[in-house]
Amino acid sequence: MTVSITWHGHATFSLDINGTKVVVDPFFAGNNPVAKTAVTAVDADFILQTHGHSDHIVDTLPLAQRTGAKVISNFEIMTWITGQGHENCHPMNTGGGYNFAFGRVKMTPALHSSGLPDGTYGGDPGGYLLTVDGLQIYLAGDTALFSDMALIGAAGLDLAVLPIGDNFTMGPADALAALAYLKPKVVIPCHYNTWPLIAADAEAWADQVRQETDVQPVVLDIDETYEL
Ligand code: NI
Ligand code: MN
Repeated sequence: MTVSITWHGHATFSLDINGTKVVVDPFFAGNNPVAKTAVTAVDADFILQTHGHSDHIVDTLPLAQRTGAKVISNFEIMTWITGQGHENCHPMNTGGGYNFAFGRVKMTPALHSSGLPDGTYGGDPGGYLLTVDGLQIYLAGDTALFSDMALIGAAGLDLAVLPIGDNFTMGPADALAALAYLKPKVVIPCHYNTWPLIAADAEAWADQVRQETDVQPVVLDIDETYEL
C-alpha cells in the first residue's frame, strides 16, 4: 500500500493512491509557465478541483475527456463541466464528505473566490481533506489563513499542502501561522514562483518551519515525488 504525491508546479499535483491516480487542479506545460509535463502525458482516474480559476482548471477538460476521469468539484463547477460535454463528475459542497473507492474526500472551506474562466459563477472555493490508506492529507487550495484550520487539524494530519506565494493566497508568514492550527507531520508548499507576482523563497520558509515548529517541510522540485 503506497501513497505518493508529485508536484507539477503551481497548485497542480498528482497523487498515486495504491494505483489510483488523482490529479489536483490541472495546470500543465503550455499553460503553466513552470510545468515540465504536458497534460497529454498525464494519467488520471479522478480530478480534484478546488475552485474555478484558470490557473487551476484550464487543463481539466482536456485531461478529463482524454482519460475519462471523474471530476470531483463543487456543484457549480460540476454543472459547468458537464455543460462542456464531460458528464463523469461528482458534485460536492463545503463540509460534505464522500467515500470513494480510493478513500474519503471531504470538501473544506477556503477563503478565496471561484469564478470560472468564461465568467460563469463558480460557487465557493474549497480545499480537500483526504483520508486514504489510514493517512490524512489536507490540500488547502487557494486560501487565506483562517483559525478554523484548527478544526481540520484536529483530524491529525499526516500531510498539509499549503500555498505560500502571497498576493492571491496566504504568504509565507500566514502559512507558518497556519501550521500552528493544522499541526501536520509534513508540509509541502505550493502556489509560488509561477509568476513574479507570487515569488517566494521556499527554502527560507522551510528553514523557518524547521526552527519554529515540529513540522517537517518538504520543498519539492517540479515533477518531484514525495512518498508518504
Ligand atoms: Ni485562485
Ligand atoms: Mn490560484
